[in-house]
Amino acid sequence: MRGLVMDGNGYHLESHEVLMRHPDPHSYYDAAQPKARRLRLKLGVDFATKRIDGEVVLEFGANATGTLDLDTKGLEILSVQVPGHGPIPWELGEADAILGSRLRLDLPADTQEVAITYRTSPDAMALQWLEPSQTEGKVAPYLFSQCQQIHARTMVPCQDTPVVRVAYKAEVTVPEGLTAVMSAGPAGDESTGDGRHTFRFTMPQPIPSYLLALAVGRLASRDLSPRARVWAEPETVEAAAWEFAEVEDMILKAEGLFGPYPWDRYDMLVLPPSFPYGGMENPRMTFLTPTLLAGDRSLVDVVAHELAHSWTGNLVTNASMEHFWLNEGFTVWAERKILRTLHGDDAAALGWAMGQKALEDSLERFAHEPNLTVLRLHLTGIDPDDAFSSIPYEKGARLVAALEREVGEDRFHRFLREYMDAFRFTSITTEQFCAFVDAKLPGALEAVHARSYLDEPGLPASAPQFHSAMLDTLTALADGWAAGERPSESQIAGWSTNELLVFLQKLPRKVTQADCAWLDAHFQLMGRGNHEILVEWLTLAAAADYEPAFPKLREVLLRVGRMKYLRPLYGALEATPRTRALAREIYAAASPGYHGLSRRVVQGMLDKFPA
Ligand code: BES
Ligand code: ZN
Repeated sequence: MRGLVMDGNGYHLESHEVLMRHPDPHSYYDAAQPKARRLRLKLGVDFATKRIDGEVVLEFGANATGTLDLDTKGLEILSVQVPGHGPIPWELGEADAILGSRLRLDLPADTQEVAITYRTSPDAMALQWLEPSQTEGKVAPYLFSQCQQIHARTMVPCQDTPVVRVAYKAEVTVPEGLTAVMSAGPAGDESTGDGRHTFRFTMPQPIPSYLLALAVGRLASRDLSPRARVWAEPETVEAAAWEFAEVEDMILKAEGLFGPYPWDRYDMLVLPPSFPYGGMENPRMTFLTPTLLAGDRSLVDVVAHELAHSWTGNLVTNASMEHFWLNEGFTVWAERKILRTLHGDDAAALGWAMGQKALEDSLERFAHEPNLTVLRLHLTGIDPDDAFSSIPYEKGARLVAALEREVGEDRFHRFLREYMDAFRFTSITTEQFCAFVDAKLPGALEAVHARSYLDEPGLPASAPQFHSAMLDTLTALADGWAAGERPSESQIAGWSTNELLVFLQKLPRKVTQADCAWLDAHFQLMGRGNHEILVEWLTLAAAADYEPAFPKLREVLLRVGRMKYLRPLYGALEATPRTRALAREIYAAASPGYHGLSRRVVQGMLDKFPA
């Protein structure tokens, strides 16, 4: 529990002062010290050594003096200088497995800025270096970053906490022929004359460190609207442009909810398949998994989600991972609001139903860690990647929906606008959020039992439910499965992709091999381009030890590194000695291509398999 510490004299409460000075349990940041306001980055990307040679200048925007503690992890610090003054003393602390090493600087009087040169480690968690064979084009290497939650410190020494926000400028030098993109606006590029090319970027608005982002590869782009563009490898850029063609509509809908889009451009990058998430809301450049390219626009909810983060997350930010629900819960709620205005009530109800399934799976996964099922988390000593689940997303979205139902749509809409105005470009805690709701919507928190969402495990019985006639039909059909009930040909023919998905999700987790054959024959599941359907199907098939699905299972697990898919698939393969052997064999072949985060998750699962 945060606030409780043990030392030689036993347990006692951390003093108020300690909590005030260290508001983020995942950072060495000290609130009594100077804050960086801007970063100037120079990054040299070296694919041969899988390292970035970096220089970062931290500008304080004021005179700074004395001790400054920064976060680093696996970084080799080469020099620390204050311009006009020269080298200054620095000290790298012991490496903590979660936090990394504190870099302590001693700033001379009246320091305006400090420059640090450093090198990243080849196994920096924020960075995945891909061989050409792991890309679509197979001819050039690729690099991408993923800094959320606390991996920015493996790429740049910084105050790696969302409590601090920085504007930034960057110069990224890459091999000629490759393109660099960042979570920032482009500011020119030129050849260096020695076979390399420098790309410049500027992000004028202050962002938390977890939104720093970089990708380098063979990239092409297509404009989707005057302010939106999609980037991908040339082989997939047309498919990507088609899949996300509706993005301007989504931006307009989101603006209707939250106010004018605050980040100027909304560009997207479709990454190689090892990208460990579905999407990442890097400002001005959302990162997306290529598994969204289903060919039928059926997975654009992820784009709606990342776009909504432009407000909920990027504009109003959680103050630490203990308040992660403020980012994700609001964003899931917004994503479904956007989908409802674009595709109607039934589509939104299906979204809530899929979320319910994810929530139930996460509550089951954390059945023995109820402390990770509350919204207001206490994470001292806990790796935020280990605390990650659908709970802040879905339980959080249900709390937001409950507040909306309590006060009515119009009043809640006005509240949201005030909330965005009051906290724009700041990072806030659950307690600040609650105080604001109390001031603007008095009594609403009590009326929806907000305390039980925030501080109690599980989902409150009073949580809002979402119904539609179609959902009820699908639920009844799936409930009848074990008793031999089957959907008719004409029912099946009328189902949308997401309706089929909800049906599959509602089936019993253990079906027979004969059931698998029936499902595949009636739904042609093996050949699905929609990965949500494909993975739901393969999860059922794996748990049933259904051999005809093994080649497809192997193919998907070898190609795709998205953790949302690896978790259920490897989990289902725990079923029998034969599927466990299959899981180990596939993992041995696939893991060199997985992101470090994905490797950690799957290795942890395989370690718990029975022998
Ligand atoms: N910000 C998250 C991704 C993330 C969370 C990265 C925690 C690292 C740590 C992103 O917005 C997200 O939630 N992505 C989801 C999309 C889905 C909820 C529509 C994903 O990746 O599946
Ligand atoms: Zn999100």
